[in-house]
Amino acid sequence: MSNVRVVDHPLVQHKLTLMRDKTVSTKGFRQLMNEIGMLLCYEVTRELPLELVEVETPIAKTMKPTIAGKKLVFAPILRAGVGFLEGMLNLVPSARVAHIGIYRDPNTLKAVEYYFKAPADIADRLVIVMDPMLATANSAVAAIDQLKGRGVKDLRFVCLLAAPEGVAHLTKSHPDVQIWTAAIDERLNDHGYIVPGLGDAGDRMFGTK
Ligand code: PRP
Ligand code: URA
Repeated sequence: MSNVRVVDHPLVQHKLTLMRDKTVSTKGFRQLMNEIGMLLCYEVTRELPLELVEVETPIAKTMKPTIAGKKLVFAPILRAGVGFLEGMLNLVPSARVAHIGIYRDPNTLKAVEYYFKAPADIADRLVIVMDPMLATANSAVAAIDQLKGRGVKDLRFVCLLAAPEGVAHLTKSHPDVQIWTAAIDERLNDHGYIVPGLGDAGDRMFGTK
């Protein structure tokens, strides 16, 4: 699993454990998702390329680093991926956003695509795809297929929880895409839910169950 980075920072692990608790309120779950989104953003952007620019301090002119290249794109998979967005935008306020509407059919577990809206020049940018749950990976694979179909070459995937089955599927389908996750759980159950997991992320975040 060399293309998977497990973010084992104590703050991330602590907040993830709080989110797993089925008694956490909708408000608390959403807040924690936001906070973890920020922490994961810090990790996924760790190796962005830098370039030197001239800056004049009150004392002297100097050459110092800034992030090189075009503004990056955050691509949340609707709905649950939106939970990461605010936290990530807090750290990278100038990022562009691509919304990718996909849900998985509860019977077949196949990805159903219903919406796509992205910056016109997305092919020239680094795209960070985000979705808290990587279960079968059907949704992530479909989202990345769509992005690559529009010419995107530089992609990363960020999630909160992954199943080993999902990591294997995404890695096989898109070996060039690095994955960041806070944990890899045990397995999927017969309904395609991550075990022990945290349940349905979208429902818990938006209070729809
Ligand atoms: C959840 C989750 C992922 C997907 C993961 O979305 O947010 O998008 O399931 O499962 P997969 O890896 O097996 O595809 P869901 O389909 O429940 O839609 P929602 O976010 O609109 O609730
Ligand atoms: N989607 C979720 O929200 N949770 C899971 O465990 C699997 C898919």
